[in-house]
Amino acid sequence: MTTKEKIFNKLNSHKETAVSGEKLAEACGISRAAVWKAIQALREEGFNIEGSTNGGYIYRKNSDVVRSDVVKDFLVQKYPGLKKAVIKCFKTIDSTNTYAKKLLSENEKRALDKTVIIAESQTAGRGRLGRTFCSPEKTGIYLSVIYVPSDRKIEPAKITAFSAVAVKRVIERFFDVDAKIKWINDIYVNDKKVVGILTEGFTNFETGIIEAAVIGIGINICTKKSQFSKEAQKVAGSITDKKDFGISRSQIAAEVAGEVLSIFNEKPQKVIREYQDSSFLKGKTVEVHPIIDDENGVYSATVIAINEEAELVVKLKNGSIKKLSSGEVTLHQE
Ligand code: BTN
Repeated sequence: MTTKEKIFNKLNSHKETAVSGEKLAEACGISRAAVWKAIQALREEGFNIEGSTNGGYIYRKNSDVVRSDVVKDFLVQKYPGLKKAVIKCFKTIDSTNTYAKKLLSENEKRALDKTVIIAESQTAGRGRLGRTFCSPEKTGIYLSVIYVPSDRKIEPAKITAFSAVAVKRVIERFFDVDAKIKWINDIYVNDKKVVGILTEGFTNFETGIIEAAVIGIGINICTKKSQFSKEAQKVAGSITDKKDFGISRSQIAAEVAGEVLSIFNEKPQKVIREYQDSSFLKGKTVEVHPIIDDENGVYSATVIAINEEAELVVKLKNGSIKKLSSGEVTLHQE
């Protein structure tokens, strides 16, 4: 363990109370000057370490640092059952989903259950239907959760809908906003898309069984309009316009991962009700873009409901009712 890590662990274990430089030096077996140097280095990494009036140091948990030990701390504090979760953090990566899929292709899948990959920025963030996902640093959080249930029962519709509910809960826990879910799993705040979720299955070709799921979640916390592509600007937005929103992104990432991994153990009817109640689309007129060939091509319809299977129930102009389990819908102005 490096001196910096030792100092960090010591400060972290004091739960936002001051620790004197002398105590830190003694505990780590180093000089006061070396303590000061390590504190400076931690501050440069983004850790919010205050100097207290009596000469001690206080580590503030709202520090804007995304590091696996910090994330793990937050995760276990809130979800003690997830002690075995593995957290991997990257400053930058092409795509956390691509990395997760690579891990799954090279390792025993069960061993990767509850692995969470987090990046501060992505160079090739992927969205649904081959789109890109804008992932600049410092303004958002991009993560993938690997889920490999022991009963090998992966129901894609359930995973997709439940993950959206989990992320919505965490957003509303931290920010004073009303988050809505746009079927299937985009999250909207103030009529703008602030979260995109890309769920990918890892299928065994021989058996046709989906053996693992990768749930990729991109959250625009304070991304500026100018950071989105011209195309994305039409729909994308951020949760807050405050650059210093005062919450550690490590904590947000930890709770998103924790909530996603826990929600699959909840009563499905309860979660589906939450999903239905959070619908951004109910009563709205939408354009339906089927993924699988549909003789209607793109058509317009009114959303009536979301049913127990998380299907979107729409009414067509000719009065007929359709249940959609896949595809994409856009609002008229999009
Ligand atoms: C969408 O809006 O179409 C889905 C966007 C999903 C983006 C997330 S960011 C983390 C993970 N890694 C990716 O490359 N994509 C997902």
